[in-house]
Amino acid sequence: MKQDSQTRLIHAPRKAPQSISTIQPPLYRASTIIFENTDALFNRHWTDDYDYSYGTHGTPTTFTLGDNIAQIEGGEYCLLAPSGLSAINLVNSCFLNQGDEVWVADNIYGPNMEHLRNLEKRYGIQVKVYNPLDVETFQPSAKAKLIWLEAAGSVTLEFPDLVGLVKTAQAHHILTALDNTWGAGLAFNAFDFGEEHLSVDITVHALTKYPSGGGDILMGSVVTRDKTLHQKLFRTHAIQGISVSGDDVAQVQRSLASMQLRYQHQSNSALTLLPWLEQQAEFVQVLHPANPDSAGHPYWKEICKQGQSAGLVSVIFDSAYTMQDIRNFCDSLELFKLGFSWGGPISLVMLYNLRDMRVLKHSHLKGGLLVRFCIGLEHPQDLIQDIQHALEQMKKLKNE
Ligand SMILES: Cc1ncc(COP(=O)(O)O)c(C=O)c1O
Repeated sequence: MKQDSQTRLIHAPRKAPQSISTIQPPLYRASTIIFENTDALFNRHWTDDYDYSYGTHGTPTTFTLGDNIAQIEGGEYCLLAPSGLSAINLVNSCFLNQGDEVWVADNIYGPNMEHLRNLEKRYGIQVKVYNPLDVETFQPSAKAKLIWLEAAGSVTLEFPDLVGLVKTAQAHHILTALDNTWGAGLAFNAFDFGEEHLSVDITVHALTKYPSGGGDILMGSVVTRDKTLHQKLFRTHAIQGISVSGDDVAQVQRSLASMQLRYQHQSNSALTLLPWLEQQAEFVQVLHPANPDSAGHPYWKEICKQGQSAGLVSVIFDSAYTMQDIRNFCDSLELFKLGFSWGGPISLVMLYNLRDMRVLKHSHLKGGLLVRFCIGLEHPQDLIQDIQHALEQMKKLKNE
């Protein structure tokens, strides 16, 4: 049949051969997925992980990354979401119903707490806060459905009593969801704590951090090992229209190859900075799970057997320094850029006033003004020099 050139442009004759092999998997961009015939259309199983029916339900590109993330984290099934926060929200909206109780660590990622407080106001879901270092503060009632864990807390970096908390949750038949962004599936295996059946039920991972590694892509994942949990999540994911761009997925897939090397490098750099930070008189506390003085250090040692940690270090300033001094310090840094997030190539800094961020009283924190350093891929000695210079500038401005 003779066709117009416009039609021929759209219906391109060349198809990639199935046998061609490349380093990176081929990229599928799809909203529409074409059915071979009406049989295929009527027999589709859109709630099945490997059945291709529409872009929001998955493509070979999204399933490939999902399988990799599940494998890294020690799980079986994975769903992708457009950001880490969106992955958190998927879990909350899938498992929480009106009147349920949900438990959150006092140091949980702030927007997760905000999201839950919003659900509390609108749907009567009760939000209860526990101290991640003290299992006794986790006292679930019969209405409790879900506990959020985070190891380590991403600002104050306490490593929780994960084993104690998971055991208590299991004894009460409560779902355990861990924000696994800090460990990235590399520092420890949340689906295997070394004792039979001792595992979290769900992990959420802000792929925005280490898996992306570039500071330029937002994505999140929800991993499980239980097929029933996964199918429930899959349905919620599909009916909410949660989906990710194939191009973004391909970028994250490409970065996965170097993730372990980057994580190890940033972990080592943070350990190089620790003793130097400890010596600086301006800081009354250096927070990092590998630091024996840091809260939860014994739990970190027990769980992170290879001694790994993300490249996050926080310092608490001596009370002689005001918020203005700390702002001057941050503004004087040159290599550390001021911005949210972590896990990228460039080191970042962020300042916090803990007074506005906690519900419970915490005796292990010796002050309120905190600066978090997110270590990038620069040489650690250059980073030390940058902090040293900024401290000098801060003191110079204070004395003027
Ligand atoms: C611990 C933790 N979880 C989740 C998120 C959310 O990830 P995203 O920025 O992709 O929404 C963040 C982001 O900073 C985080 O630090």
